[in-house]
Amino acid sequence: MVGDERIAVVTGASAGIGEAIARRLAARGWRCVLVARGEDRLRALAAEIGGEVEPCDVGDRDAVEELAARILERHPAVHLLVNNAGIPARGNFLTVDLDRIRRVMEVNYLGGVWCTRALMPGLRAAAEHGGAHVVNLVSVAGTAAFAPAGAYAAAKHAQLAFSRSLAAALRGSGIRVHTVLPGFVETESFPQKGVLKSPLLAMFVIQPPRVAKAVVDAVEKDKAEVTVPWFPYRPIAVAQAVMPRVVGRFAGMSDYRPGSVPMSTEPEPEDNARSLSPPTHSAKSGSTSE
Ligand SMILES: NC(=O)c1ccc[n+]([C@@H]2O[C@H](COP(=O)([O-])OP(=O)(O)OC[C@H]3O[C@@H](n4cnc5c(N)ncnc54)[C@H](OP(=O)(O)O)[C@@H]3O)[C@@H](O)[C@H]2O)c1
Repeated sequence: MVGDERIAVVTGASAGIGEAIARRLAARGWRCVLVARGEDRLRALAAEIGGEVEPCDVGDRDAVEELAARILERHPAVHLLVNNAGIPARGNFLTVDLDRIRRVMEVNYLGGVWCTRALMPGLRAAAEHGGAHVVNLVSVAGTAAFAPAGAYAAAKHAQLAFSRSLAAALRGSGIRVHTVLPGFVETESFPQKGVLKSPLLAMFVIQPPRVAKAVVDAVEKDKAEVTVPWFPYRPIAVAQAVMPRVVGRFAGMSDYRPGSVPMSTEPEPEDNARSLSPPTHSAKSGSTSE
């Protein structure tokens, strides 16, 4: 660490919400360690914002331990970890590819667990000198089951339980845990406007910088849980808790446009590290959920 430099590790930083978070953090003086699988795009962003590049598949526990060892060697204190890397899994539980169910758990849920545990020595070191933060990028799909993306919602429910449990376990340690729950956000893997069938749901789609602001605000203003945007998603989460059948029926009625959901007999959308040129947004360019 150089002087008073604050170190942030941001996973899934090569695109979408993670990229927006890294840009916002860098603009506020943080030095970002950028993590994703696609090295080219990380390099391009790092050159722009003065960050560091660490290619890694967060679903691979051994790779995450090696990643943490490299980061901690350079930065014994890590002031902020943003667990943002994630993939979609569109389709209900009767149609979604079985390997995709496992993969979405490995990346969206376990990836954050592996990163948090592996970087804990750095977070504790920062906590001893002023405090440290963990942000978990969950989703409204972690609070209300969205049947058209059932496996995604299940992974996000697990991630939410992880985030809340971690917050309780770390109380008093100097490491604050923040949970951010976005609704639909327009990104490469989640091209919401193109795939959502309901014009009502499409009306509430937001852009990544709005989520990035919510993340940085959560850290700076010490907010435990933030839903972005608050309306209509917070009331939906409350309704899920008190009227699960009504919300289940509503979610079951909403769906994706025909042709935008892979059938179990079709190959899954590419889950490879992305190249420098972003794919064009189309209903077929990836699966979606919230
Ligand atoms: N967009 C939405 O509507 C929405 C709503 C609520 C919550 N979220 C959550 O927000 C997070 C970011 O999603 P996004 O919409 O910004 O998607 P995105 O634009 O597709 O970005 C996903 C990022 O995660 C990285 N990534 C994917 N798999 C990875 C792996 N195994 N290891 C390391 N990095 C990996 C990707 O880079 P590589 O492919 O190069 O690895 C990319 O940088 C996810 O957790 C998602 O569930 C999204």
